[in-house]
Parts: sequence; C-alpha cells; structure tokens
Amino acid sequence: MVVSRRGASAKAPRTQFEYPSEHEIIVGDCVAEMSKLPAKSVDLIFADPPYNLQLKGSLKRPDESQVDAVDDDWDKFSSFAAYDDFTRAWLLAARRIMKPSATIWVIGSYHNIFRVGAMMQDLGFWLLNDIVWRKTNPMPNFRGRRFTNAHETMIWAARDENAKGYTFNYETLKAANEDVQARSDWLIPLCTGDERLKGADGKKVHPTQKPEQLLARVLLSSSKPGDLVVDPFNGTGTTGAVAKRLRRRYVGFERDSTYAEAARARIDAVEPLPEDTLKPFVTARDAPRVAFSELIERGMISPGARLVDSKKRHGALVRADGAIMLGDKVGSIHRIGAVAQGSEACNGWTFWHVETAKGLRLIDELRAEIRSEMAAG
Ligand SMILES: C[S@@+](CC[C@H](N)C(=O)[O-])C[C@H]1O[C@@H](n2cnc3c(N)ncnc32)[C@H](O)[C@@H]1O
Repeated sequence: MVVSRRGASAKAPRTQFEYPSEHEIIVGDCVAEMSKLPAKSVDLIFADPPYNLQLKGSLKRPDESQVDAVDDDWDKFSSFAAYDDFTRAWLLAARRIMKPSATIWVIGSYHNIFRVGAMMQDLGFWLLNDIVWRKTNPMPNFRGRRFTNAHETMIWAARDENAKGYTFNYETLKAANEDVQARSDWLIPLCTGDERLKGADGKKVHPTQKPEQLLARVLLSSSKPGDLVVDPFNGTGTTGAVAKRLRRRYVGFERDSTYAEAARARIDAVEPLPEDTLKPFVTARDAPRVAFSELIERGMISPGARLVDSKKRHGALVRADGAIMLGDKVGSIHRIGAVAQGSEACNGWTFWHVETAKGLRLIDELRAEIRSEMAAG
C-alpha cells in the first residue's frame, strides 16, 4: 500500500484541506477561487449572492430624503440571462467543493430567489426547506404601491437527492424551543445598532450586512463545531464572525478588498465561545444502542437479581439470557414493565431499578456508564 507523508493511504479520499488559518478571507472572484479548493472538502455553504434588485432611478421617502438603497455595481446585471449565467457558475463551483453530506443555504428576495431555486433543482441539489426570515423592523414601502416587503427567503438544500448523513441538529433545536419542533419561519430583526459596521464617516460599511442572529441559527442548526463553513459572498464577514464564535472553521470569498479588510478586522475581534457551551449532546436518537443483556455480560447485573420499580411495588427476576420474568410472564425489560403497570408500553430503562449496596439504581444509569465508555473509545 502506498502511504502518504501524513501516514494515510494515498488512495484515501482527501477530506481535510489545510488553510493558513482557521478563519480565512480570500479576495477574488468566488467562482475562480472556489475552483482552487479540493472537491468534496466543505461541510456547509452559506451564500448571500447579489440579489439583482434592478432598482431604477433613486428612491426617496415622502419627505424627499434619499433612501440608502442597494445600488452598488456588484448587484447589477445586464439581463436575467446574465444573472442566470452568474448563478449557474457559482452554484456549480459551490457544489463541487461540498462533501456528499454537506448542505448549502442561499438567501435571496423575490427579485432572485425563484430563479436561484429553479437553477438549484436543475443542477441536482435537493431542496430541504425554504426558511422565511420575517423581519421585525422591515423598511416601509415608501411609494405605497405594494405590500411592505417584510421577509427574505433562504433555500436550504443537500448536494443531491441521495445525500445521506447531512447535519441537522434536530434535538438541539427542539430542546432550545421549549421541546417543540423548530419551524421554517424565523422572526429576526434587521442588522442595526452596534452590530452594524460603520466607517470613519459614520456611514454603513456595506449595504446588505446580515444579522448575526440569522447566521447563528443557520450554523447551529446545520453544522457542528470544527466543520468547515464557506461563504462565497463574504461581504462584511457575518458568516465568518458567527462561525468563529461558534468554533467552526471558515473560508470567505470577497471581490471587494475594502469589504474584505473590514471583515478581517471584525472576525479577528471575535472571541470563540467556551467549548463546553457548544459540545454536541448525544440525543436519545443518536446514542449507540445498548442491549439489556450487555449489562449482564459486563457483570453489572447478575442473573437471578431482582429488578424493582421505584416504589418496589413490582419485582422481576433477571434471567441469564437477558429476558426478565414477572410471575409466569417472560419478556424484555420494556414488555414486562408494561405488564407490571397494566399499560400498553413502557420504557424499561427508566422503570426498572436494581438493588445495590448504596440503594436502588436505575438501570438507565448503568446503560449511561456503558455509553460513556463507548464514547471515550
Ligand atoms: C449580498 S452581499 C453579502 C453580504 C454579507 N452576507 C454580509 O453579511 O455582509 C454580496 C457580496 O458579494 C460580493 N460579490 C459579488 N460578486 C462576487 C463574486 N463573483 N465573487 C466574490 N464576491 C462577490 C459583493 O462585493 C458583496 O460584498
């Protein structure tokens, strides 16, 4: 077998690419720059591309003051076809660097998100959700000719239909949401106040700086600490700042060196959160399966021992084969737990206890000991 200098098989797919630092901003065109990254090396992409707002003329408030609208050259395209070509190019470049288990988020407004979504489907991405970011403080519709445009849409997609093992921190999100499933509509204010980057002239550094709260939700829901996150349209580095705070690695691409400079200073000032506050917790769904018989095999419970409920109203005999017996009924810890209570179902792990020198111990605690040994490797 040919072994590379790092000791891994030379034939093994390269999954780690080393960057000069863990939080990198590269100045240049994202399509050209992404093509320099190894294929299948990135865990998550967040993209906030130009929206092609197609603003015609200047926008004024009723008091004749000028609205600070997005009229920058980087948001201008000569036609829808030109915008579509640009979108296809960067989406293809992004898809190439995504690990098979990676996902991508693309944010946009009614101006572009439908074109982007159709293109993503055409290129083979598999749409997982469209998240509506509802703004608590949207800009009013000054001309009074349309509804107030109070939301933006984020498409969340896997690399392809058969993508397996993508990160979705379902249980964590649910635990943080009063044990209710997290929904696809997020109510979050626009980026204002101290968070908004301002230049020496007191003006906004960038017209479309996204709120950190939005990016925190994106990263907390679909990535893990240590993951490599890429943002092809870095801007002021909101994704990078949040990635660093949440202990994810980051590479951002930005054509404009002034934005890139401001983003670097912003990210440098970020302190990562303490590791313990970000440790993924093993959910019931993810925890390795432990059979009751394993407790017997490891000598934690002996055949012939008695299992009892917390009030010692029921007692079952532990058999050598891992089943338990209550009167003439034999079955699993779950089945016999249900029989004891006259109920349809029972979680035997949280019902049965074993007598120890220090008193009763829930058999679930013994299972937890085995699981932490497994986790320690
Ligand atoms: C909508 S803004 C992103 C704002 C960013 N999310 C933030 O919070 O600051 C899009 C950015 O993409 C940059 N950009 C546009 N086309 C680009 C390209 N082809 N390659 C790299 N950057 C590009 C623009 O200069 C602009 O800063």
